[in-house]
Amino acid sequence: MLRVGVVGLGYAGTTHLTSFAGIPGVQVVALAGKETDRLALLGAEYNLPHLFEDWEELVALPDLDIVSIATPNALHHPIAVAALAAGKHVFCEKPLALDTAQAAEMVQAAKTHDRVLEVAFNHRRRADVQFARRYLETEGIGRIYHSRATWKRRSGIPGLRSWFTSKTMAGGGALIDLGPHVLDSLLFLLGEPRVVAVSAVTHGELGRAGYGAMNRQEQMASDTGSFEVEDLASALFRLDDGSSVAFEITWAGHTVDDEDISIELLGVDGGVRLFVPRYASDDTLRMYRDVDGVAVTLTPEVHVPGGEHPIVIAEFVEAVRGGDWDAHRGDFALHRTAVLDACYRSADEGREVRLES
Ligand SMILES: NC(=O)c1ccc[n+]([C@@H]2O[C@H](COP(=O)([O-])OP(=O)(O)OC[C@H]3O[C@@H](n4cnc5c(N)ncnc54)[C@H](O)[C@@H]3O)[C@@H](O)[C@H]2O)c1
Repeated sequence: MLRVGVVGLGYAGTTHLTSFAGIPGVQVVALAGKETDRLALLGAEYNLPHLFEDWEELVALPDLDIVSIATPNALHHPIAVAALAAGKHVFCEKPLALDTAQAAEMVQAAKTHDRVLEVAFNHRRRADVQFARRYLETEGIGRIYHSRATWKRRSGIPGLRSWFTSKTMAGGGALIDLGPHVLDSLLFLLGEPRVVAVSAVTHGELGRAGYGAMNRQEQMASDTGSFEVEDLASALFRLDDGSSVAFEITWAGHTVDDEDISIELLGVDGGVRLFVPRYASDDTLRMYRDVDGVAVTLTPEVHVPGGEHPIVIAEFVEAVRGGDWDAHRGDFALHRTAVLDACYRSADEGREVRLES
């Protein structure tokens, strides 16, 4: 039996709790979070013996095998490092950390203490992303020389007065919040090339002006709270395979109907386009190629049932049980954090930033 403690009671924490609780041979025994009513409610519903308001008490529990982190971004690093040092395996929400230095310490802790460190990249588990990857592996589209990857929202700042818009607690805005998913799906589709250089800009105009809140009531309020982060980030990446990526993430913008995610891969012999408006489950993929001089467009009938978190968490549990943990020390997540960190540095310094190899 694997014994799990979950930190966080929001959307992410609740998803972790229900996902772990649904796996045979896994028992959630502890939960931590500040919202005392919700803590008691979930504790009763899932019959949890240990409830805490602070993560430190949960990590100190002697019999835990796994700590699952679903807190504001700034807490990912201290909780993970403490849990790994205490001999627990760690499942962590995206982003792995606020910056490269923190992420590298977490990966090192997983290696030093010989434990698994895995990050919740649930978007790559979408059935359409998985199908596109299989198509690229089996059919191919020739050399992919350029890609475009975006997540755009009309009005999707998660909370104008919450930790999400605090630089200290979140590390950034739209880029560090939505960017990890798009970047992860893109690098997965491309077969894990490395990003070697980035040139980025960020803007926080709409949030500072009081526009763009996901909750429209907040938007109408005169005090929009402190908005210390960006609501738009746009970047050009250079990859080690010689290809390039145009990458753009917005929490808010006046040219989007609602919300959409898109990834376009431009190959010499064909192309792949994933376009997901409003979290659509169907008709999200197009494959383009040229057959005997005739333009052909494929429209695969791939349905996305949703619920990708349970799949990622089941894979994490499988990795823990597998016992061969070297491929599960958070290295992929470290690279993603390094890319986003480089984007922030590039935007701050107004120049291209190269990533250390
Ligand atoms: N993978 C995804 O699709 C996805 C979706 C949503 C959020 N997230 C990520 O999950 C994380 C949490 O996001 P959320 O939307 O659930 O946030 P949230 O604000 O709703 O929840 C955060 C939780 O952390 C708890 N917390 C804060 N400080 C604590 C402390 N010292 N000790 C114990 N608990 C503490 C809070 O009480 C709260 O329950 C973020 O990193 C976010 O990026 C990922």
